[in-house]
Amino acid sequence: MKKLRTIKGTHDILPNEIHKWKELESIVSQTCEQFGYQEIRNPIFEETGLFSRSVGEETDIVTKEMYSWEDVDGTSLTLRPELTASVVRSYIQHNLGTISPIQRFYYSGPLFRRERPQKGRQRQFHQFGVEAFGSNNPEQDVEIIAIAWKILSLCGLANDTTLNLNSIGSKECRNNYRKALKNYIYPYIKDFSKTSQHRFETNPLRILDTKSEKEQEILNDAPKISDYHNETDSTHFESLKEFLKDIDLPFSINHKLVRGLDYYTGTVFEFNSVNLGAQDALLGGGRYNRLVETLGGKPTPGIGFAAGMERFLIAMEQSNFNIKKSNPDIYFICADKKAISRSIEISSRLRSLNFKVVSDTLRRSMKSQLREANKLKVKYALIIGEDEIRNSTIILKNLTKGTQKTIPQSELKNFFEDLTI
Ligand code: HAM
Repeated sequence: MKKLRTIKGTHDILPNEIHKWKELESIVSQTCEQFGYQEIRNPIFEETGLFSRSVGEETDIVTKEMYSWEDVDGTSLTLRPELTASVVRSYIQHNLGTISPIQRFYYSGPLFRRERPQKGRQRQFHQFGVEAFGSNNPEQDVEIIAIAWKILSLCGLANDTTLNLNSIGSKECRNNYRKALKNYIYPYIKDFSKTSQHRFETNPLRILDTKSEKEQEILNDAPKISDYHNETDSTHFESLKEFLKDIDLPFSINHKLVRGLDYYTGTVFEFNSVNLGAQDALLGGGRYNRLVETLGGKPTPGIGFAAGMERFLIAMEQSNFNIKKSNPDIYFICADKKAISRSIEISSRLRSLNFKVVSDTLRRSMKSQLREANKLKVKYALIIGEDEIRNSTIILKNLTKGTQKTIPQSELKNFFEDLTI
């Protein structure tokens, strides 16, 4: 029979790595809540139109990476390739803007893009992210970037990352810049790849994203979008830069940063890691001041970011960030069949004192149970056998010190109550 395996580009997250995920999730939720962000959870699949209308018909995600299918009633559905669109849909659907003129959310969960799998790039991957609705002021931008920076710092990644910052300006700015960029590229267009030639017609700004060194060299002398900023664009961007300096958050201006989703307006940013190789974007985001309106809501400014959790974990491992595994506290060794019911009872009492207690259900020899206890890096083993039942005692073994003593069962509660493991 053919062996059943995970689908290409998807991974099981096994128990021996789950502690790292939990630690990252806990850093994310604690930090976001410190900034007053509330968690939101959206469905894994949505109507396809939500993504084509927001992410953009001509983007890589929509043209080739979405997992879409037709439901029995003929509706086209898609496994979410990103979460901003879902959060915006939710914001509009539940009139969340009426609760307060400023709404702040955070999220984490799985996403799906049919990309070519490689290190740091999967077909099912996980993101955490934040979105804030209602404020068009630069202090909102700096708040979003500060959350990202705090999470990166708590994960030990601040020294290995660079914040790349740009502003793709207002609609008018982008229209003028698009023309200028096309005029600049036109004489060289034969030297550009098929993809860039296609983008030249459909979305010329995305050419700035090209991975080709030859194309990048030509683009080094291209006009810069900042030269096309109007006064509002420049004032906003200058204030953001000042605010970042105020909190000592280092950044570099990257005139070619445009991001691969169509909904962005104004500020865009990415945190890139020096340790990640080709897939070096740990986290990306920006403003999307027209998206709520595009999806049928009242005009509302928005800004957010999302980060790849797999990439975070790879980078944390590379920077030797130590995440402790949480081991059980006590291993209960039942050395005689007659002691089973007593051991179930004592284990249950210890669990109600909040200890993590593991007991053997295979009726193995005492020796192999002790071996298992050591393998689990448990601090205490409790041993109960025929003698101990008869005398109402229990053996308490400290596995780190290698000491043991026999105590009355009635004293066990006091011993563990006084203990902080
Ligand atoms: P994005 O740049 O498409 O933005 O994705 C954000 C992050 O998700 C990337 O920087 C990367 O770390 C991770 N990522 C993306 N694709 C993959 C993949 N195939 N495998 C592993 N990790 C991946 C967004 O998704 C926007 N929604 C961000 C945003 C929120 N903008 C405003 N608000």
